[in-house]
Amino acid sequence: MMAMLEDPSAERLDVQEQFWKPVTEDRLGYCLYRSLAQPGLADDQLERIIDRSRQRNRSNGLTGCLHYENGVFFQWLEGPWRQVFRLLDALRDDDRHMDMTILDQGSLDRRLFPDWKMRFSDRRAASLFDWLADWNSRPDDEGAYAERVGVFLRSIKAEGPGNGA
Ligand SMILES: Cc1cc2nc3c(=O)[nH]c(=O)nc-3n(C[C@H](O)[C@H](O)[C@H](O)COP(=O)(O)O)c2cc1C
Repeated sequence: MMAMLEDPSAERLDVQEQFWKPVTEDRLGYCLYRSLAQPGLADDQLERIIDRSRQRNRSNGLTGCLHYENGVFFQWLEGPWRQVFRLLDALRDDDRHMDMTILDQGSLDRRLFPDWKMRFSDRRAASLFDWLADWNSRPDDEGAYAERVGVFLRSIKAEGPGNGA
């Protein structure tokens, strides 16, 4: 009978695959990227991005923060890998910004922004460009640059209600 001739390792592979998916795709990951806003992006377009992002992140289990200054976005996304990847795909197709550069990504044991569906900050909260200008490291040191941006984003103090908690 055919069933008796089946390779038993086929079943083992299935089991492995089922095991592999949850431990990787459901594992917490983060991505930090920088992009350039579409020229002339209006305030109401920015507000729509933030509002929609918070709604969607709430249902997708994503948290993080978005900083916008001088027409440049810096976003820290964190959540299950599957959701982070899905959002990165959507972001690449979004023509409200361009030139996306991934600065850093990796796994997390715990979230850095657990209370923020997407915290938003701009120059009024603190200036990332001033912060980077005060820093004397070599400009081509990408790892240190990403680290410095991450420190800045984490240093911004949480603001009042309505900011994505
Ligand atoms: C700078 C920027 C940041 C964004 N951040 C998020 C976000 O945190 N979460 C989210 O769901 N969408 C975010 N979006 C919107 C996504 O690019 C996309 O429009 C949205 O996820 C809907 O995708 P879909 O139409 O393919 O379903 C952002 C867009 C921009 C331009």
